[in-house]
Amino acid sequence: MARTDGDSWDLASGVGATATAVAASRALAHRATLIDDPWAEPLVKAVGMEMFLKILDGRAGEEHSEADLQRMAQGMAVRTRYFDDFLTDATADGIRQIVILASGLDTRPYRLAWPTGTAVFEIDQPQVIDFKTSTLLSLGANPTAGLRTIGVDLRDDWPGALRANGFDPSQPTAWIAEGLLIYLPPEAQDRLFDHITALSPARSRVATEFMPSMEAFTGEDDQTDQDGEDRWRKLGFNDDLADLVYHGERSHVIDYLTGSGWDVTGELMQELFEASGFEGHDDDEAMAEKFTGFQYISATLS
Ligand SMILES: C[S@@+](CC[C@H](N)C(=O)[O-])C[C@H]1O[C@@H](n2cnc3c(N)ncnc32)[C@H](O)[C@@H]1O
Repeated sequence: MARTDGDSWDLASGVGATATAVAASRALAHRATLIDDPWAEPLVKAVGMEMFLKILDGRAGEEHSEADLQRMAQGMAVRTRYFDDFLTDATADGIRQIVILASGLDTRPYRLAWPTGTAVFEIDQPQVIDFKTSTLLSLGANPTAGLRTIGVDLRDDWPGALRANGFDPSQPTAWIAEGLLIYLPPEAQDRLFDHITALSPARSRVATEFMPSMEAFTGEDDQTDQDGEDRWRKLGFNDDLADLVYHGERSHVIDYLTGSGWDVTGELMQELFEASGFEGHDDDEAMAEKFTGFQYISATLS
């Protein structure tokens, strides 16, 4: 079913299931000691989607080769390290206010070593926030920062909800929007960055991804489109990925942030893979082509 204004979800349905998918990859990356996220696996198991249970219980043999699982773990390790390092650098520079937009099953407020006095705000859909927070509580996880969770739709008045929960717009802030943008309508993506800019004094930072084209999610020729859908279905999704993302022209994130006064730097995903000693999509030319130019980006306001 295609997206609609005001649609909502939990962690086992629609866009919410993408949060469970990336957490399953983090669980694999943790097992492979590529990252340290001990809560990813119990969270994915608590959501209970059969495909991810099969992967984590070692029963996914028919659908997933070892190479598939390794690629999932390595891809997520590169991504997780990038955003972990971004936040660690921000706090090393004295930033004490963090906003994790579309937090999904991200456990950074529970697993990073935050300096005393750091406030971390997490924003996602209400059912996503409630499930993760209550599950982590029942698992005995304790936040390592002053954590405030906010269940609100990022197409709605999230800045109002943020302020109502104690966010201080006069303090430099580090924002992350990891794995979010493709699930926002193009105009909501612009509004997201407009709000971030309006709420950010000098020295604030933001990190997100830059995807040169949506082709990896929609495909323009039938065969690669089919390959992409097969890959997605192998992960256990009932929805078409093409129905979960918003299509159509959207702003070039790097240009948009630069035009709003941010100093942007990017790192190509492929180069981060190589720097980590991983192979990337070298064995899959169609996929490699679709992700050509994909960058993780960080920006600072001077
Ligand atoms: C691929 S997941 C990424 C989750 C997390 N950032 C991570 O990397 O593990 C996408 C997340 O975006 C959230 N999301 C997408 N659109 C949203 C919206 N309009 N309002 C709130 N959350 C949204 C989903 O609920 C989901 O948790």
